[in-house]
Amino acid sequence: MDFRWGFMDKWERLRQSCEGCQRCALGQGRRNLVFGDGNPNAGLMLVGEGPGEQEDRMGVPFVGPAGKLLDQMLEIIDLDRSRCYIANIVKCRPPGNRDPREEEQEACMDYLRAQVRLARPRVIVCLGRIAAQRLIRRDYRITREHGQWVKNGPFWMTAIYHPSALLRDVSKRPETFDDLMGIQARLRELNLQP
Ligand code: URA
Repeated sequence: MDFRWGFMDKWERLRQSCEGCQRCALGQGRRNLVFGDGNPNAGLMLVGEGPGEQEDRMGVPFVGPAGKLLDQMLEIIDLDRSRCYIANIVKCRPPGNRDPREEEQEACMDYLRAQVRLARPRVIVCLGRIAAQRLIRRDYRITREHGQWVKNGPFWMTAIYHPSALLRDVSKRPETFDDLMGIQARLRELNLQP
């Protein structure tokens, strides 16, 4: 539990500041803002790339097929959405599920930075290449570097394959299982999991 004064007010204010955002063209096409989901006090933050169709309909990240797989992946390491916070690099749906463009990512980063400042996670897991290249290193190679850890200031950071990639290519799943074990070990080391 976080007893910082006004913690939930700050989250609510941040969400509201995001609601009407027109900083990039994605704002014109959104049905719903997809701000974030889960427990901001959990110490663990997962960051995807951007909402798909179902997320845009519901206003919640990772509720479509990739989200169902993500929930199963979390379950493997005894997690659920009450034990992590989930956000995206961009908070409005890119049309046709294309990758968010550089300028769209840039326009949205202040919101993610504010989320990270409020949540103060110990561990940040990038879901897929787009998040890893934005948050870890511009030339991050997901196929070569997934599962590796970097310490960036107060954060332990890693990246795993995006659940959509695991839906398309099941041969990547065993490696992802190992990466999940690595995440669990890190959470235990940091006393974030029994
Ligand atoms: N893919 C993402 O990267 N984020 C979502 O919220 C849904 C699918």
